[in-house]
Amino acid sequence: MKRAVARASPAQDAPAPAPAYVGLELLSTAVLVVDAAGRVRWLNQSAEAMLDLSRRIVLGQLARGLFVDTSAVDRLLDEAQVGSFTARQLAMLLRRPLRPPLQVQAIATALYQDETPLLLELLPIEQQLRATREERQHDLSEASRRLMRNLAHEIKNPLGGIRGAAQLLQTELRTPEEREYTSVIISEADRLQALVDSVLGPPRAPRVIVDLNIHEVCERVRAVIQAEYPNGLLIDRDYDASVPDLRADREQLIQALLNVVRNAAQALQPRIEAGDARLQIRTRISQPIALLGRPCRLALDLRVIDNGPGIPEELRERVFDPLVSGREGGSGLGLSLAQELIHQNGGTIDFESVPGRTDFRILLPLR
Ligand SMILES: Nc1ncnc2c1ncn2[C@@H]1O[C@H](COP(=O)(O)OP(=O)(O)OP(=O)(O)O)[C@@H](O)[C@H]1O
Ligand SMILES: [Mg+2]
Repeated sequence: MKRAVARASPAQDAPAPAPAYVGLELLSTAVLVVDAAGRVRWLNQSAEAMLDLSRRIVLGQLARGLFVDTSAVDRLLDEAQVGSFTARQLAMLLRRPLRPPLQVQAIATALYQDETPLLLELLPIEQQLRATREERQHDLSEASRRLMRNLAHEIKNPLGGIRGAAQLLQTELRTPEEREYTSVIISEADRLQALVDSVLGPPRAPRVIVDLNIHEVCERVRAVIQAEYPNGLLIDRDYDASVPDLRADREQLIQALLNVVRNAAQALQPRIEAGDARLQIRTRISQPIALLGRPCRLALDLRVIDNGPGIPEELRERVFDPLVSGREGGSGLGLSLAQELIHQNGGTIDFESVPGRTDFRILLPLR
């Protein structure tokens, strides 16, 4: 995280919000600034939310009282004052008067200022784990996609040779029984060829970044899926008209969203037949969050929610990996590609799924 340099505000009896920290207000990380006496001099909205206490109550309180291990803050303060560290990470337990204590990862930064020597950033461990998992998942998916493409390239050429040779051989064979063997080789080679082609995909068009309205993208996708499922599938739209334009590649977003919505429609097939299929496309503006490890002030939260059977338990961990499919005839490339395209536009995709409700969430930076 980029650290804002805080200027010391004049000494006061009742600490007041310092204009120097205004930028920190936008962070999703909880931030506390501690003065030389160990009192909370400033905190941002995320810290208020994490503590479940209003700023009015926390300002001026001893910071040590906010933690279960009170001596940890004292130690950090002493060390920050003598300049024995610049930044340090440690696990701490946050005491929240109205709720159970919260395990947090604290990042202490020495500000090298007499008045306010210490800045504390607090991240719930769970949120941190999620960010790490997301990053790991991102790296893994990139790696497996690269591996897949390289492998597909390597298979493509000899495959042509195998098919050609089998065809030649077939002309030499006399009995239909013998020719059955070469037919198997040819048809299996064709099947593999189709798979390889879908892994390699069509040649990628160069990316075109434009200002776009996400609801146009949603409407395009809705129209396509509605045409594919003209009967019995109701696509419910819940759009927040105040979502501003975002800068992204329109075709990539259409493709990504199409893959997600099509999966939902496919999963809903039995419900479509039963007449109670529900598919919703929803847009909202999200709270400030971290996207691909970068803080994002304003993000689009785009959901695709269906009331189908849910993603099979055994696929959940791997569903964004290429070639993972739970569907008869599925190639398992839809979500892998969707994730790649969303990442290219600076966003993330994840999901929550239980039988009866699958909720795919795409987050994209708006600013
Ligand atoms: N909304 C959903 N509800 C239930 N299962 C889902 C849903 N979305 C995805 N899945 C599961 O995840 C699997 C992987 O999806 P993905 O789009 O990557 O591949 P596919 O749909 O099988 O094949 P392709 O999209 O390449 O034609 C699906 O086969 C399905 O089992
Ligand atoms: Mg699919």
